[in-house]
Amino acid sequence: MSTLRTPFVGGNWKMNTNAAEGYSLIDSIQKQMQGNGVDVAVFPPFPYLMSIGNAIQNQTVLGAQDLWHSDNGAFTGEVSTDMLKDCGVKAVLTGHSERRHVIGESDGLVNQKTKRALETGFIAVLCIGEQLEEREAGQTDAVNERQIRAGLDGVSESQLESVVIAYEPVWAIGTGKTATPEDAQDAHAKIRELIGQMYSPAAASAIRIIYGGSMKPGNAPELMAMPDIDGGLIGGASLKAEDFCGIISAAQGSLVS
Ligand code: PGA
Repeated sequence: MSTLRTPFVGGNWKMNTNAAEGYSLIDSIQKQMQGNGVDVAVFPPFPYLMSIGNAIQNQTVLGAQDLWHSDNGAFTGEVSTDMLKDCGVKAVLTGHSERRHVIGESDGLVNQKTKRALETGFIAVLCIGEQLEEREAGQTDAVNERQIRAGLDGVSESQLESVVIAYEPVWAIGTGKTATPEDAQDAHAKIRELIGQMYSPAAASAIRIIYGGSMKPGNAPELMAMPDIDGGLIGGASLKAEDFCGIISAAQGSLVS
């Protein structure tokens, strides 16, 4: 990948770990991690944000899996950006496929959350990607384009500096199936081209586009060797310190390849 972009590797713990397991996971990650030159973030469940944040000793960024886009008020069960800031959160996921397809979030809601994250000073990891039927119908690029145009509607070029795009083909998430490096590269290159059309060539070459969907230490090096793949968003493999650190090392290795 280009040495101009710092690789980004995020661990999305989803609704996994208990307090003790989360603590032991972050502790092992910090002991094993060798990731100079890589931006690393972990996204624990909401109840553990503070304790995991307190346990972080190095440059690892604390992330949240979701946010709500209003200041405060009658939004039962939701969490505001001020609350996340109090917990030390610096990055948030928006539009994760499980929120889109299991919880039912629309492109419009994803856009409101993404804008809110950026307006309040967070890194927004905007997740996009096609479902299996869409891929089989040849709609991968159209779905990615729709989700990016909608997700970034009203986002300025300067705000875009705090956006990371995670391309995660839905059929590859948690299934053990991974896009081939060539297919992933093709999708990433088209996403970058789209950012160039929507913003500028400089914005296109600066934005980090990371891959997600069954990334593991075994397949990470070949994925990250692709010129437009700038890191990974990791689910299952982020729950094992050895695997997550192996992926971070692959991202580091991509810097010199
Ligand atoms: P996975 O999840 O690595 O378990 O496929 C990726 C994600 O959902 O971000």
